[in-house]
Amino acid sequence: MSLGIVLVAAGSGTRLGLGVPKAFAPLRGEPVLVHALRGIAAASPDRIVVVAPVERLAEARSLAPDAVVVAGGSTRQASVAAGLAELPVLDVVLVHDAARCLTAPALFRAVADAVVAHDCGVVPVLPVTDTMKRVDAGGAVLGTVDRSELRHVQTPQGFPGAALAAAYAAATDDHTDDAALFAAAGGEVRTVPGDASAAKITTLDDLVRAEGAGAAPPVPALRTGIGTDVHAVDPARELWLGGLHWPGEAGLAGHSDGDAVCHAICDALLSAAGLGDIGGRFGTADPRFEHAHGDVFLTATLELLATAGCTVANVAVQIVGERPRIGTRRDELQAHLGALLGAPVSVAGTTSDGLGFTGRGEGVAAVATALVVVGEPPPAVAGGAVGPAPIGRGPGE
Ligand code: CTP
Ligand code: MG
Repeated sequence: MSLGIVLVAAGSGTRLGLGVPKAFAPLRGEPVLVHALRGIAAASPDRIVVVAPVERLAEARSLAPDAVVVAGGSTRQASVAAGLAELPVLDVVLVHDAARCLTAPALFRAVADAVVAHDCGVVPVLPVTDTMKRVDAGGAVLGTVDRSELRHVQTPQGFPGAALAAAYAAATDDHTDDAALFAAAGGEVRTVPGDASAAKITTLDDLVRAEGAGAAPPVPALRTGIGTDVHAVDPARELWLGGLHWPGEAGLAGHSDGDAVCHAICDALLSAAGLGDIGGRFGTADPRFEHAHGDVFLTATLELLATAGCTVANVAVQIVGERPRIGTRRDELQAHLGALLGAPVSVAGTTSDGLGFTGRGEGVAAVATALVVVGEPPPAVAGGAVGPAPIGRGPGE
């Protein structure tokens, strides 16, 4: 079956009132025409003709490189005729309003299949759900119409190609849709169920509704976590903090290198991922972590997160203590930790106004928060299962 689609996009969009032709009005960051073309492409037609406003031909051609683009007429019917003139004789021709730009691809196929099955014109229709009244020019109700025979009619409307061309060639009157013109020429027209996605954008309200129509984009599941760590100052050791060496500064005591910043970040990440805490995961009994630098803990933590399908969104950490002053190395710290975690890390520092163990210079504390994105965990690998973490002692205690 050969299939052609005429997309009429030459209207001015007067009722939309944006001052641009409706097909070029923005919807979800793209012109309406681009959405319409996307739906059409999914129907895999042999030929596409786009009928565009004469002053927008160049723009339409750049948006629709796979289509023949021609200028429209002063009425929709004239625009359809201009489009049909560009098509060879095809088995099935669908005529579609660009203004119905979010039409589900399945509707194009349903209409085209019904044209082939019945060898006649086909229109998608929806039932009328409101009560219908006839009203005179003065607003007086004349009567109630039996709505059981009434339907809302949408596009795409489909026809046997040769019969549609003949009907357009013979048309003398103006018709409000292609099916009416086809019927006036003696053609039979049947219906298929329409679809809400094929609703026409006419007013600004319609455009706003279309902006939010369809399935909402999936919202990633975000989780925050918090972690703190404290290590006592040990002047006999070298200082390692935030994964960096600090020559000339008093070190921190601990089973590991005493890097309170990295340990607080690990706790924040594990907390966000619901994976327990650093003491339970990498306790002092584990020889991998004896004298280990902070990088080792961070890398091991990231592996646990990956197993649980979590990725790091960002981390913030604050160092509380008299020494070291982090200001001059903040950029270096942020770059080093950011590269390790593959996510933005911000580092801040503060003193505790001379109060407490940090104020007396007896220790350094770090407080971290983390945000992680929870996705699908990768397929389980032997030994890689993540269970609830036991509560345990931290690495430096
Ligand atoms: N159309 C067309 N040529 C015209 C008039 C309309 O190609 N001379 C197209 C429109 O671009 C639209 C479809 O026919 O995709 C349905 O028309 P309508 O919703 O009335 O759009 P506009 O005519 O652009 O809007 P308005 O009537 O508010 O000006
Ligand atoms: Mg119009």
